[in-house]
Amino acid sequence: MEGYRWKASVVTLSDKGFAGEREDKSGPLICEMLTEAGYDVQETVLLPDEMEEIKKHLCKLCDEKNNDIIFTTGGTGFAPRDCTPEATMAVAERNAPGIAEAMRLASLKITPRAMLSRGVSVIRGQTLIINLPGSPKAVRENLEAVLPSLDHGLAILTGRDGECAR
Ligand code: MTE
Repeated sequence: MEGYRWKASVVTLSDKGFAGEREDKSGPLICEMLTEAGYDVQETVLLPDEMEEIKKHLCKLCDEKNNDIIFTTGGTGFAPRDCTPEATMAVAERNAPGIAEAMRLASLKITPRAMLSRGVSVIRGQTLIINLPGSPKAVRENLEAVLPSLDHGLAILTGRDGECAR
């Protein structure tokens, strides 16, 4: 049965990526994993670790582009310019901490350094925003841990229960 496909966008936060000094492999990996899971990837954007710019883009992707879900990658660590969780919390209307908790729980079984990600998961309007760490390895491990459970949450959040293919 054909069903509605969740609209997703991906935001990569990396000063080096933005400056063209490092290839963004994590954004494309998220897109690949989402597409494979049946999501409709709308937009990808690469931004520097700048609080105001991140906030502005997240708001646009939620309020104007009507994404059901936004994944960020990068900027969740302890580096002085890492500000993805702060920008995400600044645009949040409700907290959805279980997703970030589940990612750290699963990741801690793989590496103790998982505790160093400060990533958050929140809701703005009818959009879920999830912070993933920056490396492709971390992206794969974190996303694999939560992806199968997101569908049910999105169905409740958007009121699209029953319309979905999965
Ligand atoms: N989570 C998983 N599953 N696998 C990893 O390799 N790396 C950690 C952590 N989370 C990692 C992980 C490390 S080393 C850091 S510093 C933090 O994510 C933050 O990453 P970021 O600054 O690239 O966002």
